[in-house]
Amino acid sequence: MQTIKLNNGVEMPQLGYGVFQVSPEECERSVSEAIQVGYRSIDTAQIYQNEEGVGHAIHKSGISRSEFFITTKVWISNAGYERALASIDESLRRLQTDYIDLLLVHQPFGDYYGTYRAMEEAYRAGKLRAIGVSNFLVDRFLDLAHFVEIPPAVNQVETHVFTQQQELQQVMQETDTKLMSWGPFAEGKNDYFHTPTLVAIGEKHGRSAAQVALRYLLQKGIILIPKSVRRERMAQNFDIFDFALDAEDMERIKELDTKKPLIADHRNPEFVRFILGVTL
Ligand SMILES: NC(=O)c1ccc[n+]([C@@H]2O[C@H](COP(=O)([O-])OP(=O)(O)OC[C@H]3O[C@@H](n4cnc5c(N)ncnc54)[C@H](OP(=O)(O)O)[C@@H]3O)[C@@H](O)[C@H]2O)c1
Repeated sequence: MQTIKLNNGVEMPQLGYGVFQVSPEECERSVSEAIQVGYRSIDTAQIYQNEEGVGHAIHKSGISRSEFFITTKVWISNAGYERALASIDESLRRLQTDYIDLLLVHQPFGDYYGTYRAMEEAYRAGKLRAIGVSNFLVDRFLDLAHFVEIPPAVNQVETHVFTQQQELQQVMQETDTKLMSWGPFAEGKNDYFHTPTLVAIGEKHGRSAAQVALRYLLQKGIILIPKSVRRERMAQNFDIFDFALDAEDMERIKELDTKKPLIADHRNPEFVRFILGVTL
């Protein structure tokens, strides 16, 4: 598996598997299948309520814990130093592990500074191998990165061919923070899998639109965690390492960027109110 070196030297698989909107019951089955397909990096979150399923699947795989890279995220309800610290131990218990590879502040809301300090402490205590943030756009990212002691290793934000986050990725270079895409298929919105440019480039390489989209992001140095509960799609999404897009393909896909979010607009009051209302 191709890896990416985080800013603290930790190597992370560049391609992993995400379990947002996968029910607790389905999670163990789908993560087990993803492991059989070859995935070793799994992205979950406290708010997905399925950390236990991830832990069970990893445990039952019989594969050494050190082969896996587990990412989870602290939800807003657990924001603040004390609560976040306790929630890290809860996540460890649910994941059935004594360390988490990457822990992220899930949203830039609530006392996320307190959360980050707790994460820094847990990192120093060896409970976390790397720490970072999620959904921090340019302003919040620069603010946090300026005032914390350990620069975020990763910022996980909505990133796909229609929302490429080029400005954010550039800003993050100052701290060598890696861009991690959530929603690499824009959750299927915009008739994603029938996008003419992706389909045409796919035909040229004998690949699906989904594979072309993932390959584009991979070549841009972005960390990926596509989600599918179907084994054949898990396999298709994993099979992106034996072809390459040329400069012309890359240029054509770059032009699809609208520079606006398609799924989650963190600057839209309605969306922010909605997120603030989601509690554990
Ligand atoms: N940090 C955050 O705030 C945040 C927010 C959202 C997501 N995430 C993370 O990012 C991961 C990925 O994002 P996402 O789950 O929102 O959406 P996504 O990966 O962009 O899209 C998933 C959708 O695409 C379908 N799909 C997957 N592979 C396909 C293929 N090869 N061909 C056709 N359809 C395909 C899936 O259907 P089937 O499952 O039916 O195959 C599902 O409907 C999440 O699981 C989660 O771990 C993080």
